[in-house]
Amino acid sequence: MTTVAAARLEARERLSAIAHEPQLEADLLLGHALGWSRSRLFSESDRRLSTAERTTLKRLTKERMSGRPIAYVLGEKSWFGFHLYVDGSVLVPRPETELLVERAIELATEVKSKRIADIGTGCGAIAVGLASRLSSVEIDAGDISEAALAVARRNLLLLGRAAAPVRFFIGDLIAPLEHVPDLIVANLPYLASSDWVSLGPEVRSEPPEALIGGPTGTELIRRLLNEVHRRGWQPHFVLEIGHDQGKALSDAARDAFPAARAQVEKDYAGCDRILVIRQPDEA
Ligand SMILES: C[S@@+](CC[C@H](N)C(=O)[O-])C[C@H]1O[C@@H](n2cnc3c(N)ncnc32)[C@H](O)[C@@H]1O
Repeated sequence: MTTVAAARLEARERLSAIAHEPQLEADLLLGHALGWSRSRLFSESDRRLSTAERTTLKRLTKERMSGRPIAYVLGEKSWFGFHLYVDGSVLVPRPETELLVERAIELATEVKSKRIADIGTGCGAIAVGLASRLSSVEIDAGDISEAALAVARRNLLLLGRAAAPVRFFIGDLIAPLEHVPDLIVANLPYLASSDWVSLGPEVRSEPPEALIGGPTGTELIRRLLNEVHRRGWQPHFVLEIGHDQGKALSDAARDAFPAARAQVEKDYAGCDRILVIRQPDEA
């Protein structure tokens, strides 16, 4: 009969072939199979697994061994203090996007934002993060994928009482937006089409339309800036960008909004990652 301690060891050994942190992943999968916290795996390490529990652990480990991201296998991603639901229809939210949300909260507070748009909301991470911390704003969150929006709605429900109301909309960029936002926050796809082949199998399990921004990667973000400009809106922006897109996209921002101040900020790894576009005060 397999004990919790033996199951941890066995799962870790199997996962060491593919995972960077095999013990952590073994614990996550075992904890998921048992419905236990990680600490309980330590405190009840002698407990024996039932046949059903062993079968579940085997299934989860097999799924992970096939290269499927751990977040999809668990159906969950720990992000910005939440346990977000994720499945294969959405990008798994990344740590650098937590920085984007922190930056957007700072700017929204500073400019006393009333209406924020999250464009390309995916699993709703950004909208949920903003709604949890800002109280006097309304948030419109859109995506081109109906399946992604279903995930985002689910995550808003999981959040329970949001400080700010969130309305979801489907469609291309800002086309369906009915109200003019004073702040646009977006993590749109920004990889170049040619990057796809060099991505690892885990990233390639994520939806390509959530990753690829066009031939150079900057196309969707440029289109967002141009479409906002064409509508005559002058919102501030906090945008996630590729590490090598700072100059090109801040130039694009200045072309679309000559009076604005465009500033590129770094991520945890010291790479260019966030483009903040501030409109002049009187705008
Ligand atoms: C990089 S993912 C970001 C998801 C989420 N905001 C996050 O940060 O984890 C980009 C999202 O943009 C959506 N998207 C792609 N093209 C779009 C478009 N033309 N209009 C609206 N959303 C789009 C994708 O479906 C995907 O959910």
